Parts: sequence; structure tokens; C-alpha cells
Amino acid sequence: MIVQINKSLKKLNTFGIDQKAERLIWAHSAEEILNYVSHHGAPSLVLGGGSNMLLTQDISGDVLKVDIHGREVVFEDDDQVHIRFGAGENWHEIVLWTLNQGLGGLENLSLIPGNCGTAPVQNIGAYGVELKDCFVSCEGVQIDEKRFFELDLEGCEFGYRDSIFKNDWKGKAIITRITLRLTKRNHILRLDYGAIKDELAAKGVAEPTPKAISDAVVAIRKQKLPDPAEIGNSGSFFKNPVVTEELAHALKEKHPDIPTYPVDGGSKIAAGWLIEKAGWKGFKDGDVGVHKNQALVLVNYADATGAEVLALAHSIINSVQEKFGIQLQAEVNLI
Ligand code: EPU
Repeated sequence: MIVQINKSLKKLNTFGIDQKAERLIWAHSAEEILNYVSHHGAPSLVLGGGSNMLLTQDISGDVLKVDIHGREVVFEDDDQVHIRFGAGENWHEIVLWTLNQGLGGLENLSLIPGNCGTAPVQNIGAYGVELKDCFVSCEGVQIDEKRFFELDLEGCEFGYRDSIFKNDWKGKAIITRITLRLTKRNHILRLDYGAIKDELAAKGVAEPTPKAISDAVVAIRKQKLPDPAEIGNSGSFFKNPVVTEELAHALKEKHPDIPTYPVDGGSKIAAGWLIEKAGWKGFKDGDVGVHKNQALVLVNYADATGAEVLALAHSIINSVQEKFGIQLQAEVNLI
């Protein structure tokens, strides 16, 4: 383990917020993490890729940075392969690495910021696919019990941007490795998401491979979403709210173009549309703003503080509540 004192976390969170850790501890193996929690209990914060969080204050105590690497085949037959990845592997790098070997499964999840270890926490998803669709299991450390655990697909209780790690096990587990199932042939291509079909057609791709789909997803995301290397952000700041069928119906009557998607127990509404219609798209105040191409993404143009981003989020929540009677909820973790 490497320990750094009073260290800025600006480069370790994609929002680029300059808060400090009293101690920043780099863990390179599951054993180091078990050893840490056995002696110290829970750290103040566990840090993965830092891509789904908003730091609103300095962190007193220890920030444990999970920096575990490794890519290992653990099962293989003619059709599929299961690969185990260290939690600290960058998500998009492993997506490209699998695609370059002709493996299918992760193509729709291209260019999602963050690391492997945080992917199960919020069941990352994009373009009609979620992590759970190729998930086999994950391993890690249970903090209170001071022991290793392994959870399979069912055990993780995945939902829309949700899992056991956001509920019963919140703050109680540190993921160290994940195992994913990838296809070697008979790939299951998911093209239902309109923009993917349009992008492939525009490129003249008639029989898409997983790699071609990934290229299309990368092109779409680059048009719509800011690159955290250039403009600080955490992807979608809010969840798409699920409302009752009645409310969705009433909204549709009033706003015929509102995008809604049927889900269990109601309708999912596009939060980006609500925020845009409330007048926020492209808004900028000092270093904080709402992205000009995707209203669901809040941005830090240079040196915004977490408190400034949070204040903007609250203004947006209030104005969407006033205009549409819908309460938006943050998708990013507020620290
Ligand atoms: N829309 C607007 N204005 C906007 C943004 C969106 O009107 O500023 C409308 C679009 O026209 C579209 C609908 O909202 O009809 C949905 O937009 P989009 O397809 O861009 O998807 P999203 O619901 O805004 C979700 C995920 C993204 C994921 C995309 C693609 C959530 C909270 N976000 O966004 O995930 O990449 O779908 O599948 O579920 C992330 O989690 O960080 C993330 C980027």
C-alpha cells in the first residue's frame, strides 16, 4: 500500500473537483484491502474510477483507492469465455481489449467512464444494454465481517442503475474483481436503440460486428457527451424518473413530444428532456453549467467547487418540480 498525506483528489474524479483526502491509500490487491479493513474498519471513502461522484467537501480520514489490475480467462468453451478483471481496470480499455479479440457483449457499453469495480454498483447501462446482461460474478471484501465474498448475478440484485451495493450492502463491501461472460460466436447484437441503427446506416454497415457497434456507440457518445479529459463531468447527473401511468398520461396530453418508456410499475421519463424544457440546456454560470448537447450532464469548466455544482443541481430540481411536478434524483453519489 502506498499512503499519501493531504492529497488533492482533483485528478482522481472525472468532475475534476479539487477536494483533499487527509490520507490517500492506494490498494493493489484484495489481500491488502482485507488487511486494511481488519486493522482500521471502513475507510472514509472508497474510490474507484471517480466517475460517478460529486465531492462536496474535503475528506477527513482515509480514502482507499482501489488500484487492482489483471485480466484472466477463468472459463472457456466453443461459444463463450468468462474473463475476470481487476476492479481497477479502466472500463473502456477492457471493452476495447475484448472487442479487439473478436469477443462480443460489451459493445453497447463502450466509452462509459469509470473502472470495472464500480460497474456493478450502479449496474452501468447504455443503448439498451446493462452490465447485468453479461455479468457472471464479483468478488470483494465485506468490511464488518472482515472476510472475502463472492456474489453471482442473482446475489447482486441488479435494477435500473441499482444493486445490493446501493442498498443492503451500501458502504459495507469493497469490490476487488468482476467476472464477465463474453461471446466468441453467435453474438447477440442489440440494435433496438434507434441512434445505433442510424449511425450504422450512415456508415454503410449492413452486417454489423460487435466492433462496428462499438464504433457507432463511441461516435454517438462523442457527439452528445463531454469528454471528462476536456470538461469535468460525471455523465448523467440525474436518474430518469419513473412516474405513475396516470401522471405519464397527463404529461403526454400536455406535452405530446415528451419521451416516455414503459417500465415495471409506471413510465420512465427522459430527465434530459424535462431539464431542457425547463430552460437549462447550455446554461453556464462561472465554471459550472449544463452541457449544451445533453441536459442530463452537469459540467465543471475549470475550477468549480462541489458546492457550486450541488447548488446548480438544486436549482434544476426545483425548477423541474415546479414546471412538471416531478422530483428529480441525483444519479451520482454525493460525497
Ligand atoms: N433528451 C432531450 N434533451 C436532452 C437530452 C435528452 O430532449 O438534453 C431526450 C432525447 O431526445 C431522447 C431522450 O431524452 O428522446 C433520451 O435521451 P438519451 O437517448 O440521450 O438518453 P438518456 O435517457 O438521456 C440514458 C443514460 C445514459 C446512457 C444513455 C444511452 C440514464 C440516467 N442515463 O441517458 O447513461 O448513455 O441513456 O443509453 O439512464 C450515465 O449514466 O452516465 C449515462 C450517460
